[in-house]
Amino acid sequence: MHLVELEQALRTGVDCETWVQRIASYFESHTLYFGHGTDNAADEAYWLVRAVQGWSEGAWGSPPDPSAIPRVLELARTRVELRKPMAYLLGEAWFAGLRFTVDDRVLVPRSPLAELIESCFEPWCRIAPGDRLLDVGTGSGCLALAAAYHCPSLRVDATDVSSAALEIAKSNAAALELEDRVTLILADLYPPRGAVYEIIVSNPPYVPTSRLAELPREYTHEPALGLDGGPVGLDVIARLLAEAPAYLAPGGSLIIEVGEAQDAFTAAYPELPVTWLEFERGGEGVFLVSRDDLTGHLTS
Ligand SMILES: C[S@@+](CC[C@H](N)C(=O)[O-])C[C@H]1O[C@@H](n2cnc3c(N)ncnc32)[C@H](O)[C@@H]1O
Repeated sequence: MHLVELEQALRTGVDCETWVQRIASYFESHTLYFGHGTDNAADEAYWLVRAVQGWSEGAWGSPPDPSAIPRVLELARTRVELRKPMAYLLGEAWFAGLRFTVDDRVLVPRSPLAELIESCFEPWCRIAPGDRLLDVGTGSGCLALAAAYHCPSLRVDATDVSSAALEIAKSNAAALELEDRVTLILADLYPPRGAVYEIIVSNPPYVPTSRLAELPREYTHEPALGLDGGPVGLDVIARLLAEAPAYLAPGGSLIIEVGEAQDAFTAAYPELPVTWLEFERGGEGVFLVSRDDLTGHLTS
């Protein structure tokens, strides 16, 4: 479908659902990859229309406003021509029910960990008042801020080695009014020693370097620092594991997303007694290991 055909289709569209269907058809008629906040053309078209309307319920329930057509066309055209993730074009991403501002300084939030955070880490962790959580490699701040939002008794620290990413995380903390509950720290993995944490969570870079060039074009818009996990994808993960015992409180848990590096991880740590978590909303490659099991393994 050409852009002029989409324009025509929008002008004759009588309701917003029709707009969504027609934009989805336009997306489907081009080569696009959906994996940055949605996994299909229809959801992405819905996101576009709602965002252009400022997420107004009134606008969504009314006949579409023709004055929005130029903006819709521009976004649809740019999505197709540049293969830029919709999140960057709109400057927003939704994670664990919360809106995050994003740009190409941070990865687009999409971790399956959202589901675990929304359930406040149940049934794997029982959070007590005053417990602390550390998010290593926070990017937009999505894991740390969602944890603080959904688990109000948690005290949360979050690190990133990218000061540019931390600027975005800071603005998200302010927008969500969580600045007092979440401390953002510029650090290479762990923060300067002092605190220990009941939960350490991380979605580190885990794509093998040689695979980066094979990823769909959408990924080239994301910061390589957030994706590149070294030769087999385990560079950051190995360091996270080795240093974790010093930062975990007794009885604490380390939860890491290793994504597509799961096989490489299992090959590298065949004896480590990890639990691979399952998610109702999909996603895999996330494990949990207790401090005791980790310490026992690393010292044996
Ligand atoms: C896969 S992204 C995840 C971002 C965010 N937690 C999320 O789930 O969307 C990995 C993040 O780790 C950060 N990072 C990479 N190496 C790091 C290091 N050595 N220490 C701290 N953060 C690091 C990157 O800057 C990036 O923001």
